[in-house]
Amino acid sequence: MKILVTGGLGYIGSHVVVELQNEGFEVVIIDNLSNSTIDVLKGIKAITNKQPIFEKLDLRDKISVTDFFNTHEDINSIIHFAASKAVGESVEKPLLYYENNLSPLVNILQELQNKKASNFIFSSSCTVYGQADTLPITESAPIKPAESPYGNTKQVGEEIIRDTCKVEPNLNAIALRYFNPIGAHETGNIGELPLGTPQNLVPFITQTGIGKRDQLSVFGNDYPTEDGTCIRDYIHVVDLAKAHVSALKRLVNQDNDYNFEIFNIGTGKGSSVLEVINAFEEVSNQKLNYKIVGRREGDVIAAYADTTKANTVLGWKSELNLKEALLSAWKWENK
Ligand code: NAD
Ligand code: UD1
Repeated sequence: MKILVTGGLGYIGSHVVVELQNEGFEVVIIDNLSNSTIDVLKGIKAITNKQPIFEKLDLRDKISVTDFFNTHEDINSIIHFAASKAVGESVEKPLLYYENNLSPLVNILQELQNKKASNFIFSSSCTVYGQADTLPITESAPIKPAESPYGNTKQVGEEIIRDTCKVEPNLNAIALRYFNPIGAHETGNIGELPLGTPQNLVPFITQTGIGKRDQLSVFGNDYPTEDGTCIRDYIHVVDLAKAHVSALKRLVNQDNDYNFEIFNIGTGKGSSVLEVINAFEEVSNQKLNYKIVGRREGDVIAAYADTTKANTVLGWKSELNLKEALLSAWKWENK
């Protein structure tokens, strides 16, 4: 079965392509290389011994999207990653984010209207919960006002899919709300490639560890948590990738209960910033240069997933722990 993976040369998409190929799916990637490089294809081939089909295409271009679906009439299943993801940049350039994160979504859903049956998986985020009132966070927790245009694109993206599913009974969709993806493939052939200074914790840690950055700033140690630093649910990107395969199989086998379903994808375990640093020091066998600085605006205190729904309904569970994830990130950084 042929699966379209948009943004398939990106960080999460490339790991999903590997898992799909390992499971025998044929993959077609669309990517405009705005935040990735063509070399990722080599990394995927090195792991799976198979080269996915690749089309360089900008999904904002409606005509190209229509042409693509006309050429690949046999594609009915799509995993949609393509989007811009830098939270800070989205505050500076909101229209770029609304255009790039929403127009590809609309363009693809419009093409699926012509199909007798189609399956669609959307990359959503735990950012939709903001600071949840209760922990761990279940899928029924209220959606909080978005802190950034990026966060808003995930909320609106889910609404676009929900509204479309109401009128398109042939469309079956799943939104996966990722908690904090980290790590890389165990081979070190694919991983996260942040452009410029990393905004996220783990790439900043590994770049400091290897000497590309002088010092990690820990944003605040006066939060109401055990050690005063914020808590997140860090999930190994390979576990996250496998969740996509489980979601896809659910749709392909028509096992879904509703034509739009939502699942949290995390480990269910929260770790503080200092715990992540300690775990990194252990797996890399070196001290990390860090200092405590003031809080970062917009940070929530604590977020970790209740994964019961994914565990029981999707039949998926994370298998790798924080240290394994950090070791893989460190291996990738070294490579
Ligand atoms: P990424 O930037 O590594 O991958 C996205 C890919 O999409 C890139 O290869 C980029 O070139 C491509 N792309 C962007 N706009 C495109 C367009 N208009 N047409 C074609 N290709 C385009 O990001 P990622 O970390 O792999 O994230 C994938 C998805 O998961 C995104 O939707 C992101 O918002 C979501 N998500 C990511 C995280 C995270 O922490 N990484 C967390 C929650 C949700
Ligand atoms: C980020 C995104 C969010 C997305 C989530 C899941 C931002 C602002 N938000 O949030 O939209 O849904 O990932 O992928 O980017 N930290 C430091 N020093 C650093 C970097 C981070 O102390 O240099 C701390 C942060 O304060 C936070 C934790 O590390 O407590 C994790 O930060 P980060 O990796 O940026 O993830 P989120 O804040 O969860």
